[in-house]
Amino acid sequence: MPISKNITAAIQNSSVIRKMFEEGIRRVKLYGEENVFDLSIGNPVFEPPPEVKQALLTIAQSDEKGTHRYMPNPGYTTSRDFICRLYQKETGLSLATEDVVFTTGAAGALNVIFKTLLDPGNEVIVLMPYFSEYDFYFSNHGGTAKRVDTNVHFHFDFDNLEKALAPGVKAVLINTPNNPTGVVYNKEELDQLGKLLSRKSKEFGYPITLVSDEPYKNLSYGVDTPSIFNSYDNSIIITSYSKDLAIPGERIGYIAISPNHEDRTQIQNGAVVSLRILGFINAPAIWQRVIPLVGNAKVDLKPYRENRDLLYDHLTKCGFECTKAEGGFYLFPKSPIEDDREFIKSAQELNLLMVPGSAFRRPGYFRLAFCFETDFIHRSLPLFTKLAEQYGIA
Ligand SMILES: Cc1ncc(COP(=O)(O)O)c(C=O)c1O
Repeated sequence: MPISKNITAAIQNSSVIRKMFEEGIRRVKLYGEENVFDLSIGNPVFEPPPEVKQALLTIAQSDEKGTHRYMPNPGYTTSRDFICRLYQKETGLSLATEDVVFTTGAAGALNVIFKTLLDPGNEVIVLMPYFSEYDFYFSNHGGTAKRVDTNVHFHFDFDNLEKALAPGVKAVLINTPNNPTGVVYNKEELDQLGKLLSRKSKEFGYPITLVSDEPYKNLSYGVDTPSIFNSYDNSIIITSYSKDLAIPGERIGYIAISPNHEDRTQIQNGAVVSLRILGFINAPAIWQRVIPLVGNAKVDLKPYRENRDLLYDHLTKCGFECTKAEGGFYLFPKSPIEDDREFIKSAQELNLLMVPGSAFRRPGYFRLAFCFETDFIHRSLPLFTKLAEQYGIA
């Protein structure tokens, strides 16, 4: 066996999306770029806001010495303090510099936090459907996923959650706005979750950490995205600028620890050591310096909203069952047949590429991304009509 068993299994398990990616390339060669509609991957086509380029120019022209050297592992103090001020404004809580740790995107942040929290055999509750890379982020650090079903609207099912909360569960991972469903958790349900976790933490004699993965936090359409810091003390926020500044290739994100977390200091120290152990060392220096310079700039939400409305209206008119995404840039409609992989294959034959729900552990659904030019979305609509006709739901 030339490579590890774990990685051999990972290659096999992640082959659905990889195959789709390869299939997309093959079809573009065969049919031409303008005839292939790849809605499978959430890679925004929009350029970052102009403030990003301006900040990069300012940094490039600065004569300040030492800006390319090693720094304290969790990042520059001025950049971390900028994040503290954002949370102060949003939540009223005073985070210390040490509560903020810059990371290589949200993926890096999740690995750092689970490295810090988990002992072999610990479980992390995760709500189905979910971003499937999470499984790696638990198993990398000896943890396992305890998968809990959401309700029919993809919101918390508190009975299921209460049943799953047992000694050995170290953390609960939520993702809001959600990939793949577009659901945003409201204040009432976050408060209810906070109460449940407080009660269970007392019962088990240790704090259950609530980890909220929020890279889509600033992409919401007319709904609030309340902070978990105001609903539960033992909480940690994970986020990145991949989506709201449209810079996923730059790998910049951070961990924010609630100042009220019972294990606050140990988690701060643990995250710093985990950064080194995992070989990330620190987040990219230039991007840490960009963040305070861009202030509150975000990508323009107008095309996202337009795309969501266009697709949602068309899909539901065609007869697909679908929840209207309140945030993020994905829709997660029900497949007209039980076998979502079979359905995705039929769509592929029409040069329409999407991801089966089973890749997110919710078979019977499919995911499509809408982070593309509106004209591209427009041109894809007749293919959904054809699919609906083919399956007799139109
Ligand atoms: C739910 C979720 N979490 C984390 C990530 C990883 O984000 P990043 O590119 O910042 O590492 C993604 C990326 O698509 C995501 O959808």
